[in-house]
Amino acid sequence: MIEFKAKYGEWGIIFGATDGVGKAMARSLAERKLNVVLIGRRTEALEALGKELVEEYKIAYQVITEDLSTDLAIERIIEQTKGLDIGFVSYVACLSVFGPFYEQTWEQEQQMININIISFMKYFHYYTKLFKEKNRGGIINIGSMSGITGAPYIAQYGAGKSFISKMTEAVAFEMLDTNVDIMVPILGSTITPSFLKSLPDTEAGKAALAAAMTPEECMEEIFENFGKKRSMILGDLNRENAKAMANQTSDQTIEFVGNLFK
Ligand SMILES: NC(=O)c1ccc[n+]([C@@H]2O[C@H](COP(=O)([O-])OP(=O)(O)OC[C@H]3O[C@@H](n4cnc5c(N)ncnc54)[C@H](OP(=O)(O)O)[C@@H]3O)[C@@H](O)[C@H]2O)c1
Repeated sequence: MIEFKAKYGEWGIIFGATDGVGKAMARSLAERKLNVVLIGRRTEALEALGKELVEEYKIAYQVITEDLSTDLAIERIIEQTKGLDIGFVSYVACLSVFGPFYEQTWEQEQQMININIISFMKYFHYYTKLFKEKNRGGIINIGSMSGITGAPYIAQYGAGKSFISKMTEAVAFEMLDTNVDIMVPILGSTITPSFLKSLPDTEAGKAALAAAMTPEECMEEIFENFGKKRSMILGDLNRENAKAMANQTSDQTIEFVGNLFK
């Protein structure tokens, strides 16, 4: 655990730390003795998490209340953390709006583009350059099985997750001859507040819940493999599903996924 901090640096930043996967990521870093910058829109919940981590792991924390779908959010975060020895960053936040593409407003599409693509790219570009210059650092960008399959009714989300995965895999390769580790863990159904809120009350919803992983299980696999693998599907079941899909046409895969949400 202590070696992690010695290898990467004093502070970790979690972009989307308030609950679910981001909260588990913050806890995993604190466990490894990194101080954490917790970013999200809900200040009170972030402060409560920070205090909990200080109590449990004797680390320091900073809360930045920021909406990653707004202009210049990443620039403001960079400015506010300039004095810190940043050694690790993770982009967890994302936005999906459920429903057919033709029913969504352009404002909704734009908001998703801002958080899932533009802020992600600004963040990834800045920290990749910074860590390359220091020849030290770790980056984890959270991916999704939807990025592999495509995702009817959350079409832009699926496409955005695919974008994040492909960007991360390619840049991780470019950084292989540095001391910077970059990874995209690909998550399937994971029991978080937003997952539970979006779960349809159908047989497919029940099956998804029964097969879902906890954020803690995800973190265990992520940190077991960080620095060794650059892209990995988490969970035996998700890996088996991906193997089965490899023998199908894209049309078959999309039909299967689409019918789950129809
Ligand atoms: N849960 C699943 O089944 C599942 C499956 C596959 C992949 N994933 C991936 O796992 C990651 C986390 O998912 P999740 O289910 O834990 O929850 P989530 O709803 O994606 O939220 C994660 C965190 O992001 C923050 N956030 C959301 N919008 C934000 C914004 N505009 N600005 C700043 N922060 C924002 C939220 O805090 P605030 O509300 O305080 O802003 C929250 O802490 C995502 O990348 C998702 O794609 C999840």
